[in-house]
Amino acid sequence: MAGRIPDQFIDELLARTDITDVVASRITVKKTGLNYSALCPFHNEKTPSFSLNPNKQFYYCFGCGAGGNAISFVMEHDHLDFVEAIEVLAKDAGMEVPREQGAPDRYEQNAELLKRLSESATFFQRQLLESSHKDKAKDYLAKERGLSGQIAKVYGLGFAPPGWDNLLKAIGPRAEQQEQLLQGGMLIEKKDQAGQYYDRFRDRIMFPIRDTRGRVIAFGGRAFGDEKPKYLNSPETPVFHKNLELYGLYEAKQNTTTLDHIIVVEGYMDVIVLAQHGITNAVATLGTSVNSQHFKKLFKLVDKVTLCFDGDKAGRAAAIRGLEATLPVIQDGKQVRFLFLPEGEDPDSLVRKTGKEAFLERLDDSSSLAHVLFEHARSLVTLGDEEGEAQFTQNAMALIQSIPKEVTLRSLLVKQLSDQSGLSSETLTANAPTPRHPAAPQTNSNHAPQVSHDYEPYGYDDGYEPHGYDDGHAPYQDMPMDQSGGYQGKQGFDSKGSFKGKGKWQNKGKWQKDDGPTFAPLQAGLSRIAHATLCLLMHPSIARDIDVPDPLLAGDTPDRQAFSRVWRYFNKYPEHNTGHLLYQERNQVLLDTIYGLLNHPDATTKQKITNAKQEVLDMIEEQTEALGLNSSIQRLKTRGNDAINSTETQQELRALMEQLRKKKS
Ligand code: UTP
Ligand code: MN
Repeated sequence: MAGRIPDQFIDELLARTDITDVVASRITVKKTGLNYSALCPFHNEKTPSFSLNPNKQFYYCFGCGAGGNAISFVMEHDHLDFVEAIEVLAKDAGMEVPREQGAPDRYEQNAELLKRLSESATFFQRQLLESSHKDKAKDYLAKERGLSGQIAKVYGLGFAPPGWDNLLKAIGPRAEQQEQLLQGGMLIEKKDQAGQYYDRFRDRIMFPIRDTRGRVIAFGGRAFGDEKPKYLNSPETPVFHKNLELYGLYEAKQNTTTLDHIIVVEGYMDVIVLAQHGITNAVATLGTSVNSQHFKKLFKLVDKVTLCFDGDKAGRAAAIRGLEATLPVIQDGKQVRFLFLPEGEDPDSLVRKTGKEAFLERLDDSSSLAHVLFEHARSLVTLGDEEGEAQFTQNAMALIQSIPKEVTLRSLLVKQLSDQSGLSSETLTANAPTPRHPAAPQTNSNHAPQVSHDYEPYGYDDGYEPHGYDDGHAPYQDMPMDQSGGYQGKQGFDSKGSFKGKGKWQNKGKWQKDDGPTFAPLQAGLSRIAHATLCLLMHPSIARDIDVPDPLLAGDTPDRQAFSRVWRYFNKYPEHNTGHLLYQERNQVLLDTIYGLLNHPDATTKQKITNAKQEVLDMIEEQTEALGLNSSIQRLKTRGNDAINSTETQQELRALMEQLRKKKS
């Protein structure tokens, strides 16, 4: 058994490797200012949006969002796993990969962990036949949910009987196995009793979650009655990243004769009941909104994706998140449609009521992406006159511009908008708001989008719950509880993390730690930056689509610090809401600022926030312009006398000073 690769070796390897060589030996790159640009190897494109920053030893694609260091580039480009990529790079660097004695490497550890998860799935399935409580489970599945034994088998449904240690005893008699079950999220360590565990899933119907190769990587467990949480899911583990997985994808691939279309629904039961009715091509997200990663995964398999939502307000909001997630990754030849169900129905209830054919008809009748995009742009408009029309056009262009330039859909939508608005395509493009994904770096420009924030290619293994469900997972367990035992942070947000607005924040104290100070609402108008911060707090999901340049993130004023912290947080945890942030933030000064903002009249009336994303983007543009000059001067000055002695630098400095003088006057 090969040992683990020591972290120091990986550091050393990265230090000796130049990402420029790694990338340039695999794809054609072009020097653009300080960076390199290229056609992104990870998605289809005709104009370059892939940027490589040799200073930071980091790459990023502004088209598809791929990004990382030399190791992740080799992994993605050469289709290798982590260890294999290390071996390739080590060979190039003339280094031998050392192994630590004893500890198995990550790859092998995962293999053991997957074995325990597969055994767990078998155990739960057996309990449907063997447990003394099996009748309750079988009745629930057959009578209450109307599932056939056959479909239960296809999806590997099982039963976790009541009791604290059924799984523990059956699968984990040895310490090593218990360790693996713990890592796999199946056990929970007892408080104050290190090394003592109990079953996470008790008295629940078990849904194994499989990866695309059919390996069980996690579980969802449904309570029988109204117990909370209704669904308890595995936490993030080394083999389960819920933002990347889709429930039922493996089964859809197995059981659909020609898989050319995938329907994305919200729930496990929706997937299974649709399949029982012969619609085998449905998958579900795991309690999160559908994201760009999901689309990338789906577009590799099929050309057509239909997103299915409830007809209610939450469903509409979820559809918009779906729309925003698909635009940056859509490609020619791919089609995304939206199906809104009648209020109060989900695919499960609807297909049972109306049958397969009626459901298929609804699918045929679903809304096009263009329709949803324009409707959404329209719905954000507050005025009924020319200004409203202008707002609409801007809103629509902001969305359209997040589609990669080379994708035909983009020109089609611009054309449609031109027909609707009477403005020429050229005018629309020229006056369009700043795209959410900065355009590809321009030649001869040092202002290529900087990979500035602490973007993490593996940002999901953070141990936090990225969605708003009260799963009772470890991260929530030590959260402050109010008297009723609920997690306080949920108030004021709907389950998907959007702020419900109006008045909730005035319900002070709810959000504050017991000894926290209370805040009088700020009465004065908010600064531009503070207002942008508030936009983020009230619409956290927009952070994902916004890039913030370095100087602004440096946060040298309290306003900027708060903005920077809030943006970083939501950019890193796109599924989190403001409740999570408030809970996790330890810096009291920042907390005070945030609470102050949330108690500001702008927050409670919301009237001043019309288009949150645009407002943040505008602020960034304004600030960057102001900051750009100052910080460039600072940079040149701090280079020291040697650098300033070079005529080139002196000239640059002089020109900048001149510009700044002009600006001030
Ligand atoms: P829904 O609450 O819409 O449930 O959650 P459903 O799928 O209709 O479930 P049934 O029909 O009542 O059994 C949709 C999905 O959201 C996640 C699950 O993935 C679920 O399938 N969810 C929901 C959770 O993770 N936790 C919860 O407590 C609730
Ligand atoms: Mn349901």
